Amino acid sequence: RNMIFVTSEVAPWSKTGGLADVLGSLPFALAERGHRVMVVAPRYAPYDGPVSTGVKVTLMGHAEVMYFHQQIRGVDFVFVDHPSYPRPGGLYADEHGVYGDNQFRFTLLCLAATEAPFFLDLPIPPQQMDPPRPTSTSTTSTSTSADGNGSNGAAASPAAAQQHHQQQQQQQQEQEESIPRSKYGEDVVFVANDWHASLVPVYLAAKYRPHGVYRNARCIMAIHNLRHQGVFSPGSFASLDLPGHWYGCLEWQYPPHQRQGSWAEEGRSVNHLKAGLTTSDRIVTVSAGYAEEIQTYLGGWGMEGIIASRSPVLNGVVNGIDTDEWNPAIDPHLPYKYDTTNFVEGKAQCKMELQRELGLPVSEHIPLIAFIGRLDPQKGADILLEAAPQLLRHNNVQLVCLGSGNKDLEDGLRWLEGEFRDRARGWVGFNVPLSHRLTAAADILLMPSRFEPCGLNQLYAMRYGAVPVAHKTGGLRDTVTDFNPWGQSGTGWTYTSCDAQGLLQATGLALLTYHNHREDFRKLQLRGMTREASWDQAAQQYEQIISWALMDPPYCR
Ligand code: GLC
Repeated sequence: RNMIFVTSEVAPWSKTGGLADVLGSLPFALAERGHRVMVVAPRYAPYDGPVSTGVKVTLMGHAEVMYFHQQIRGVDFVFVDHPSYPRPGGLYADEHGVYGDNQFRFTLLCLAATEAPFFLDLPIPPQQMDPPRPTSTSTTSTSTSADGNGSNGAAASPAAAQQHHQQQQQQQQEQEESIPRSKYGEDVVFVANDWHASLVPVYLAAKYRPHGVYRNARCIMAIHNLRHQGVFSPGSFASLDLPGHWYGCLEWQYPPHQRQGSWAEEGRSVNHLKAGLTTSDRIVTVSAGYAEEIQTYLGGWGMEGIIASRSPVLNGVVNGIDTDEWNPAIDPHLPYKYDTTNFVEGKAQCKMELQRELGLPVSEHIPLIAFIGRLDPQKGADILLEAAPQLLRHNNVQLVCLGSGNKDLEDGLRWLEGEFRDRARGWVGFNVPLSHRLTAAADILLMPSRFEPCGLNQLYAMRYGAVPVAHKTGGLRDTVTDFNPWGQSGTGWTYTSCDAQGLLQATGLALLTYHNHREDFRKLQLRGMTREASWDQAAQQYEQIISWALMDPPYCR
């Protein structure tokens, strides 16, 4: 199969969240299973590995893009180069807010991705060479006609008939040649990730298919976070290079309580994700739990009706993790490496080393509780800050938080550290080595997310023997199973009441088990460490979904 993932971020080149991790690991799992996989993302900076392909294409009438490329372990990483991508601030925003031209930047990404297969002649990775496959349709059709000429010419047909036949063939060939051919196969499946890529299926249906191009291509919309939808003014439609009658596909009348700003007051807008959800052939989201929630008022962010209407083609696939990067036995960031045979000792060493580093009292017996994540309401950082004083006042525990984001919440972390000098640390920033060391050192990891499509930190935590305490939502309820002392099962604690009390109660149970039922706690850790978390299963599910997509006629013709 040929697949092209379109994404606004991909690790290790660009990252603000879990989306980048997924795009930096799932494609390898699929390539290992014999598929041809391309990942298309913006070139936000001059990266070290990828080199220029020399291909330049003008899109949207005026924007000239260049493609950079690097093939790694059979995956083609393609970076779209355009002056609008590199920015001194973040990928999408700086301290003044989101960039005013994001609509343009990501529309350009979608077009650059759908055009890439016509222009890039990328070498076929060795593992996909066998068995031999036809290189591209244009060469196949030439060789067919050559064969035809040969055999027909040998037959004893009158010269005129033969000439006629040749003319016909030539005409047909010319006609076919005028249709651009994808060099990545005709039956390519695009996987459009989040709103940034959600015009891909729209362009396939509006711009290519009517001209006979990409007739066998399909597009799967992958939702990592439904909250961000790419909502712009109705007037901006004109800039999208789409036929006028497509306006309705993008138009979005949103609920009164969400209306703000001048153009939004009438409730009209252009919504990229809505267009993607209504034109793609299938929809995937990153857990079965989240797939359910986004069909409801509480989790749908206004899209619940559209998504529910497409539930027959909606699937939830829980993300895997990169089990080489997240392996405590070989993790280069850890001061002491460990596995299932020596994790008690190993984690104690990692904990004491971190306590020393952060200037906390050093003792392997004080439970270390961690929070790692963006400081925003989705991740429940405010709930954590509300619960923290009570947690720290009544228990001899240490709480270490790592993350950045909302300024008030960052100040909240600093306040907490000032207030509880010998119990709390708040590290404001984004620090990969520290996140590994903290996960290894922690006994308990808190995930008070209000909603969580999949969540990766709980997966990393379990693998490192840190027991998750999580709000029972989305991917958290799919991946963290509750501790059951009688059946000796479960990998953590989840709670349903999404507030400080819920979090405190569940954390209380975890601490009780930590102090009074050591053996149970160890078994819990061990179950988490040995739980299957690699990409194998998810890659198989994606494979299945991709073949379903190819079996059905295009949803939008
Ligand atoms: C988004 C979601 C997170 C998910 C990640 C990768 O960041 O918020 O829950 O794990 O995407 O799919």
